[in-house]
Amino acid sequence: TGKTIIAPSVLSSDFSRLGDEVEAVARAGADWIHLDVMDGHFVPNITFGPPVIKAIRDRTDKVFDCHLMIAPADPYIAAFADAGCDIITVHAEAGPHLDRSLQAIRSLGKKAGVSLNPSTPESVIEYVLDRLDLVLLMTVNPGFGGQAFISAVIDKVRRVKALIGQRPIDIEIDGGVTPDTAPLVTAAGANVLVAGSAVFKGGTEAAYRANIGAIRQA
Ligand code: DX5
Ligand code: ZN
Repeated sequence: TGKTIIAPSVLSSDFSRLGDEVEAVARAGADWIHLDVMDGHFVPNITFGPPVIKAIRDRTDKVFDCHLMIAPADPYIAAFADAGCDIITVHAEAGPHLDRSLQAIRSLGKKAGVSLNPSTPESVIEYVLDRLDLVLLMTVNPGFGGQAFISAVIDKVRRVKALIGQRPIDIEIDGGVTPDTAPLVTAAGANVLVAGSAVFKGGTEAAYRANIGAIRQA
């Protein structure tokens, strides 16, 4: 519905200047700020958690789109809500009680998302559709920026689009999004694009503006 939302992932930004990077990419045309939380357990990398998110929260009014690559997620949902996340997305593979996790997120007044690894079938969302605000389809195996786009997921985008029907649920794509791959997933039904390396390459606000523009035009 409407224009494509661009959500730069700060995973590819300069962490020594994280607050400034968030401000720069917001000024450069980001719609949402995508925050990749990794625990070294669910995924083979560690990033940051609620204290860091809280520290950068007042640098922009943009939606904080928090992608939790952590297991278990439930014990930390309240901390991410308190830190200022607007959307909290958990992985379907991260625990046995997806319905409970989604209820917990909404009970805190936040938007609830579920993320699926490339190998996870879309059928896992079938019975939680009424508890969902967003479906995040991974087009790389989560853990690192700069990986190659997995095109087999394009078919899953179409299937998820059909499953959600008329419900107001965003379909977000994460991993290997570039001006070349973006049109493949928007044509299949995605309306939110995460991009890390493709946005932050160049390292300046002017570069971010050009990079976001190139994805938007594609
Ligand atoms: C991967 C993260 C992504 C990552 C995307 O685990 O969830 O958000 O930052 O990076 P690029 O756009 O470089 O593939
Ligand atoms: Zn992500």
